[in-house]
Amino acid sequence: MHAWLCETLDGIGAMRFQSLPMPEPQTGEVRIAIHAASLNFPDLLIVEGKYQMKPPLPFVPGSEYAGVIDAVGAGVQHLKVGQPVAAISGTGGFGTHACVDASRVLPLPPDFAIEDGAAFAFTYGTSHHALVDRAQLQAGETVLVLGAAGGVGTAALQIAKAMGARVIAAASSDEKCALCTELGADATLNYSTQNVRETLKALTDGKGPDVVYDPVGGDLAEPVFRSIAWRGRYLVVGFAGGGIPALPWNLALLKGASVVGVFWGDFVKREPQASAAALTQLAQWYAQGLIKPVIDSRLPMSELPAAYARMGSRQVRGKLLLVNDSAGLHQD
Ligand SMILES: NC(=O)c1ccc[n+]([C@@H]2O[C@H](COP(=O)([O-])OP(=O)(O)OC[C@H]3O[C@@H](n4cnc5c(N)ncnc54)[C@H](OP(=O)(O)O)[C@@H]3O)[C@@H](O)[C@H]2O)c1
Repeated sequence: MHAWLCETLDGIGAMRFQSLPMPEPQTGEVRIAIHAASLNFPDLLIVEGKYQMKPPLPFVPGSEYAGVIDAVGAGVQHLKVGQPVAAISGTGGFGTHACVDASRVLPLPPDFAIEDGAAFAFTYGTSHHALVDRAQLQAGETVLVLGAAGGVGTAALQIAKAMGARVIAAASSDEKCALCTELGADATLNYSTQNVRETLKALTDGKGPDVVYDPVGGDLAEPVFRSIAWRGRYLVVGFAGGGIPALPWNLALLKGASVVGVFWGDFVKREPQASAAALTQLAQWYAQGLIKPVIDSRLPMSELPAAYARMGSRQVRGKLLLVNDSAGLHQD
């Protein structure tokens, strides 16, 4: 097998796509022949030791991937060789094969494309937990999605539309805003060129958005929070912009508004039944054509540094896939 091995926390530049012994699944594990993995923002942080989860070195990064089970360890009853599956395991996905605990494996329903499976649960799970569970979004409410052309952003846009909400999609370029319009956004806001407060006022008859979905953080947060509607819910999803905002608390008082934290990884661990129910609803929406991962581009697994550069420079629209060709899958 081949994989990208992180041996020091010096980033992607210090890593190589290298030949490794084929791992055997241990008790409770399965081995997956990986067809595709997708890049999530934490994959950038983890190889520099900047993510909250710090796996022991060396490790293979890659939080989300999908493929076909090619070996089953002792004690695993419900998964079989040949079954198409996705996995969310924190690490392991940027290679041709991975052994993973069976509890981290999601069998793919019939008609669920394997590439979509590699780019689904992380972003849609996060955005479903944020909008449905944490914000209690109602049909007819207005949602502002920041970073709306990115991974979790495109998922949030589609989920909010599936729930009957009105979506204002905000992004840093006209091209990204145009993509959001194609995906069904009711209005867009280019926060590089437009005044955030005035535009939000104009787009909501002065009321402000009921829910804000924020995976970006930084300097945008305060003007956006000042624009939120009465009883608004501001979802703290991430800080892709780098800065962790600090807000004057009087703003929450003045709007009767809530700052609501979103931590999907812990939600999955602490509330597995609720998480499974959310994934079931998402699979139904996928089958109905209401949601579908937006694929930015496909790169060979061997080109991971180019993928990291694309995400690190804000170019990714939707999800970037790393794919193994059939030759790669049979390397040993
Ligand atoms: N809380 C949770 O449970 C959870 C789960 C998953 C992800 N997250 C977090 O959500 C954030 C987004 O993740 P993602 O996988 O969707 O990433 P992504 O696809 O790269 O999207 C992030 C978006 O942030 C914006 N951005 C602003 N400044 C940026 C910068 N300096 N570098 C990169 N992007 C910048 C970009 O949009 P514009 O160019 O339009 O500004 C970009 O599209 C990350 O912080 C991630 O850790 C949190």
